[in-house]
Amino acid sequence: MTAAFTPPAPPDETGFDTRAFRTALGHFPTGVTVMTAAAGGRRIGVTVNSFSALSLDPPLILWSIIKASSSYAVFEAASHFAVNILAHDQIALSQRFARPAEDRFHGIGTGTGAGGAPLLPGTCGLIEYERHQILDGGDHWILIGRVLSFATEGHAPLLFHKGAYALASPHPDQPPRG
Ligand SMILES: Cc1cc2nc3c(=O)[nH]c(=O)nc-3n(C[C@H](O)[C@H](O)[C@H](O)COP(=O)(O)O)c2cc1C
Repeated sequence: MTAAFTPPAPPDETGFDTRAFRTALGHFPTGVTVMTAAAGGRRIGVTVNSFSALSLDPPLILWSIIKASSSYAVFEAASHFAVNILAHDQIALSQRFARPAEDRFHGIGTGTGAGGAPLLPGTCGLIEYERHQILDGGDHWILIGRVLSFATEGHAPLLFHKGAYALASPHPDQPPRG
């Protein structure tokens, strides 16, 4: 018989197993986004799966960035941002925006959004937002944005689950809708 879930590992001598916690968090599947912004002549983009819907009225979204990020200064200075929701065939973009590079946008034909935020081509969705609030979230900053505009394409999304990329597929047991 298979257990429904693996019980959490007991805390080590430091009191909390951060690595096991991170692995446990990875059991929650997410999409993959690249957050972009521009400020002070610098354009930045960071691969992010902490993106989440927050509020419909007012329209708010949130995500978090590790405080050690070299891109944070630009996000802090920027007034406007873009959520580029990656499509199923954009693993290379996800990897590119998660690794150090002099110019992560090199060779990509980007558009320009509100406040100069770079817009990536071929994504399955785009949300442009302005700064609403930045909150302290432990070793991350929590960025809350007020949505200005959005657009979607029919592409299938890229997913991230247990530290690996995945595809979305319809569930055969999906109850009829409507
Ligand atoms: C699928 C995936 C999801 C990620 N999600 C986040 C996230 O939500 N927040 C974060 O700070 N870093 C996240 N990262 C790591 C950042 O992309 C990476 O550390 C960052 O781009 C480092 O560059 P920087 O120091 O220039 O910001 C993620 C990486 C991957 C591959």
